[in-house]
Amino acid sequence: MTISPHGGGKLVSRLSNSSSLDGMTTVIEVSHDLRNDIENIADGVFSPLEGFVGKEDFESIVRTGRLKSGLAWTVPIVLDVDEETAAKARQAGEVALAAAGEKFASLKIEEVYTFDRLASARAIYGTDDLKHPGVDKMARMKSHLLAGKIEVTKRIPQSPLRKYRLTPAQTRAEFAAKGWKTIVGFQTRNVPHVAHEMLQKAALNLYDGLFVNPLIGKKKQGDFKDEVILSAYETLIENYYPRDRAMFVTLHTEMRYAGPREAIHHAIMRKNFGCTHFIVGRDHAGVGSYYHPFAAHEIFKDYPDLEIQPVFFPAFYYCKKCLAYANERNCPHGPEVREELSGTKMRKMVSSGEIPAEHLMRPEVSKLIVSFKEPFVS
Ligand code: ADX
Repeated sequence: MTISPHGGGKLVSRLSNSSSLDGMTTVIEVSHDLRNDIENIADGVFSPLEGFVGKEDFESIVRTGRLKSGLAWTVPIVLDVDEETAAKARQAGEVALAAAGEKFASLKIEEVYTFDRLASARAIYGTDDLKHPGVDKMARMKSHLLAGKIEVTKRIPQSPLRKYRLTPAQTRAEFAAKGWKTIVGFQTRNVPHVAHEMLQKAALNLYDGLFVNPLIGKKKQGDFKDEVILSAYETLIENYYPRDRAMFVTLHTEMRYAGPREAIHHAIMRKNFGCTHFIVGRDHAGVGSYYHPFAAHEIFKDYPDLEIQPVFFPAFYYCKKCLAYANERNCPHGPEVREELSGTKMRKMVSSGEIPAEHLMRPEVSKLIVSFKEPFVS
């Protein structure tokens, strides 16, 4: 069984070796984060999107969590610009996109529109509290959105952080070469603690392959830095994972902290990579206490058509009576013998100089983390 890219068509590919960029005089500078997403569009990570969404799709995503065609899509992929740039782009019809002064892609302008920042934030994030990092970002967006298809001519240069990046076409080819029919994807924005590992290994009992797919990209202050997450996973996999059953690939996009809506978005991206299943645990893509710890499970009820199957896990904790990782479904012991585990708890321990005990974090991993002078995003 091979899962089709989202939308049932082919994987989107928007790469070009045309030199028409050179002649384009209207140039829009984008952030490094947006450049990542533009390359994601080009490589089909966001299939079936071929560019930035138009007004009808944008409003439909915000209102219903679906494109106007009805296809599941919960987080709009957009390019925001100020009014003056919007007018120039409209007039030019096609613009070059540049990062750090270097043109790397083109955008055919199909539509220019405005949007209501806070109403959109409320729908996507379930709150308009500016303390929420996703809402804060949306509130700072520029007034106009440019829609249209993109074409990437120059890829982001290779770097140590991109060593494990693969395109959906590449991961699908790898899965086929390994003979995996069922592949379970694991999203993370954290260094691995043992509960993360236990979730992945519980899933590995049931499926052919495990696709460990940390998100590398913009994260909020206080989260672990990308290089720390990457090295920690390298170490964990080397020491604790069966080589022929686990594949380590990074996903280069930003965290949005949109809880349930982001869980759907995360699942769609992994479907495009070829995963048939996707792990959703406690407080997936959550931040603070904005979402119920299992809101990201509930939302899948609204998406029976997603095709990639969610694999739900309750909160895993270490039970001092069972002497094992357990959860409320398989362990009778009370809170007094439970050690809860979360990314937040690990971050707190590491920042106060405390080395987590071996049953909470693998010693190779904690040793590596404390070797970083500044492991957190500042
Ligand atoms: S996330 O923002 O990427 O979701 P994190 O990297 O901490 O955060 O979590 C990765 C995945 O593991 C998510 O599906 C999350 O729900 C799950 N998870 C993390 N800790 C636990 C835990 N103690 N019990 C159950 N699931 C967990």
